[in-house]
Amino acid sequence: MILKEILVDLGDNSYKICIGTGILEKIGDSLKNLDIGKKCVIITNPIVNQLYGDKVVKSLKKNNFRTVVLEVPDGEKHKSLDDAKILYDKLLANNVDRKSCVLALGGGVIGDLAGFVAATYARGIPFVQVPTTLLAQVDSSVGGKVAVNHPAVKNGIGAFYQPKLVWIDIDTLGTLPDREFKSGIAEVIKYAMIADSKLFYYLKRNISKLKQHDKKVLSNIISESCRIKKDIVEQDEKENNLRMILNYGHTFGHAIENISNYQLRHGEAVALGMICAAEVSEKIGELNKEIANEQENLIRLVGLNTSIKQKTTTKEIIEKMEHDKKKIDDKLRLVLPKSIGMVTIKDDVSKKTLRTVLKKRLIVPSVNKNKERKQLDVTKKSRFNICVCISENDQKEVLSSIEKAVQNGAGLVELRLDLIKNNLDLRAIIKGCKVPVIVTDRKNKENLIHGIEAGCDYIDIELEVDNKIRGEIVKKAKKHGCKVIISMHDYHMTPSYSKLLQIMHQEKNAGADIGKIVTMANSIEDCQILLDLLIESKKIGFPILLFAMGDLGRFTRVIAPMIGSKFVYASIKDEVESGQFSISNLNSIYNELTL
Ligand SMILES: NC(=O)c1ccc[n+]([C@@H]2O[C@H](COP(=O)([O-])OP(=O)(O)OC[C@H]3O[C@@H](n4cnc5c(N)ncnc54)[C@H](O)[C@@H]3O)[C@@H](O)[C@H]2O)c1
Repeated sequence: MILKEILVDLGDNSYKICIGTGILEKIGDSLKNLDIGKKCVIITNPIVNQLYGDKVVKSLKKNNFRTVVLEVPDGEKHKSLDDAKILYDKLLANNVDRKSCVLALGGGVIGDLAGFVAATYARGIPFVQVPTTLLAQVDSSVGGKVAVNHPAVKNGIGAFYQPKLVWIDIDTLGTLPDREFKSGIAEVIKYAMIADSKLFYYLKRNISKLKQHDKKVLSNIISESCRIKKDIVEQDEKENNLRMILNYGHTFGHAIENISNYQLRHGEAVALGMICAAEVSEKIGELNKEIANEQENLIRLVGLNTSIKQKTTTKEIIEKMEHDKKKIDDKLRLVLPKSIGMVTIKDDVSKKTLRTVLKKRLIVPSVNKNKERKQLDVTKKSRFNICVCISENDQKEVLSSIEKAVQNGAGLVELRLDLIKNNLDLRAIIKGCKVPVIVTDRKNKENLIHGIEAGCDYIDIELEVDNKIRGEIVKKAKKHGCKVIISMHDYHMTPSYSKLLQIMHQEKNAGADIGKIVTMANSIEDCQILLDLLIESKKIGFPILLFAMGDLGRFTRVIAPMIGSKFVYASIKDEVESGQFSISNLNSIYNELTL
């Protein structure tokens, strides 16, 4: 069903943006009404093709289009002239002529690349945008900027080339990884900051609903963003002046994105860029500190980073910014906020101001700097990690237990400070440990701070801990690049699914990185609840460490890694009690299962 239609009025280059749910399968009906030929080349990537390619092809065929599907490998690095050349070759090989149409099916990378190819092949052939990421739906598919990257400059080679139609099916966001979804929200904040304070406060009020993909909220923010972009593009199609404001956050952002070697998502870099731009604005007296804070808080609420964690220097960032296309007459032009919904353009910001602002935002975690130990990346598709709990008597015993556990294959070590009796040299233990370390203390929360300062990788803090204390510890952890595990304990029974789900969303939104559930599984239903929760946690990108007890709980722990959980707990002892595993038990089970 189409929920909203917006006309981008650019004379001969006008086109409609259609926003709806379940409309992907109707794309053919809409295309047949456009003045384009009967051959349609779908440019996409393997991920999106597998998810949505068939639906689009089917709908086109139903409307008598001949279709060719061309896949480009996934990733920003393929938004390149080399990949454009491969596409030109394939278009020629498929006899694509000037009447044929290119349909970009994917995120901003595909949209920009396919648009660039359509703009340049045979001096321009019609193209249609079918964006499938939030970022592409609110931003890159609208306005006709198409480009490939130059190794030195992001979007360095490109054109203004308007699509014939933008077809936005909100349902495609259902499969989008959470990190990509949040990255898209950054661009919505950008629109709110440059042009619409109402949108800003709407976002703020509805952020939880948005993060749960509420369709009404999604359709509102997508249509509002498209409307703002359309208004600006209609006044200044080729970025002679007004359109520049759409680059808010992008001069800093592109530099940071480039330095991260495109490991940062575009929206993540733009969010950092907006924070820096607001701080510059505050420093030169154009913006109130409260407004800068308000923007930063919203960015944080989304779950986006607010500090630059790349290995870089202020000098390198400024040099990259100076390379950016927005530099005109050798002057660096910055879009800076004046209030929520209003920006100004400045080309006289001193390097000293830029340096001061960047310095504050650049975080190189000091204690972790020289760590050589393996880092866990729970977002990657890798083998799970066996986690062991260390609670020996003293430093010597702790060290030898860790060594033995790691030799046996443990991938993560939890130090239970409340159970270790004698004083420890935490810093030395953590520094010498070859695998990541979790610090836990169920009694004295001060010890968590010691753990963070000593360079631990994770702290485990219970759900029940007072919000104020929790907030301080979490803040400290984030500052030191330490991840936060929020743990929930019910030793008697598995809580209900709805309760667990609610806690999981609530804690993720509050900034926790990982959830831990320590519970007793008494029935098959309890196991089902825990496994369902793991599946859901994977969908929303919030890893769960499951410590279910009892014989049935033990069963769920074996299953957990098979459905994507990155952790499984084992005892460091070889002889274990009923309901427990030793590391070797687990290794042999998983070797049998060839996991
Ligand atoms: N032209 C413009 O005006 C403009 C504006 C903003 C950004 N951009 C460009 O957009 C690009 C970033 O776009 P992006 O953030 O969409 O990144 P992207 O295109 O790389 O997509 C992000 C990831 O999501 C996957 N994906 C896409 N749709 C999916 C779906 N529905 N379900 C599951 N996975 C899906 C992709 O395969 C990819 O791995 C950058 O190159 C940026 O420069 C252009």
